[in-house]
Amino acid sequence: MKPILFALLLAAANGATHADEGRSAVALLPAYKAECGSCHVAFPPRLLPAESWQRLMGGLPKHFGVDASLDAAPQKAIADWLQAHAGGARKRPAENAAPPEDRITRGAWFQREHDEVAADAWKRPAIKSASNCGACHTQAEQGDFSERNIRIPR
Ligand code: HEC
Ligand code: HEC
Repeated sequence: MKPILFALLLAAANGATHADEGRSAVALLPAYKAECGSCHVAFPPRLLPAESWQRLMGGLPKHFGVDASLDAAPQKAIADWLQAHAGGARKRPAENAAPPEDRITRGAWFQREHDEVAADAWKRPAIKSASNCGACHTQAEQGDFSERNIRIPR
């Protein structure tokens, strides 16, 4: 098989799909998906700057009230991969700064992108938390946050 065709097939199989506003989805490292996608979806690495990922990976025993610690080898592999795929090159400089608590959901970008969601919607039982991306983004597990796959539960 020609190398280019093979690469395209591989990219398609990994779910590396569309680019929205230049924030193209990257195929997730399997260890990242397994270890960091068990309690919540494996958040797209581009949604936080490198500095935030570094702090999060350095504080896993005390991770938002839970112990998310990992063995040294997967911890390093995931930390390195997150550094390589972190955001931070966006056009709006203010959004390259680490958000409060290193939460995607507290960043300026997130708040602007979600300003049409009614304030009370975030607390609905089917949603519970803004961090629960998959409640509304039905294909979040596949790394797809496109508008056509959004359903806000009532
Ligand atoms: C044992 C469960 C658990 C595991 C494993 C886990 N997390 Fe979390 N994570 C949480 C909880 C709980 C929250 C807070 C969710 C909330 O506020 O609703 C959270 C929140 C986050 C947030 C902030 C989300 C926001 O609000 O913007 C990030 C980023 C994050 N986790 C990254 C990771 C990474 C990276 C890993 C893998 C190294 C990981 N998590 C593994 C439980 C976990
Ligand atoms: C309460 C439902 C809800 C939750 C929970 C939610 N979102 Fe959204 N999200 C939306 C809506 C509504 C939009 C706006 C779509 C539009 O522009 O019309 C949106 C837009 C987006 C976009 C831009 C999509 C595009 O193509 O323009 C991204 C990326 C995104 N959300 C990521 C996330 C992430 C990551 C999380 C979890 C940390 C999350 N969202 C949690 C409802 C939600």
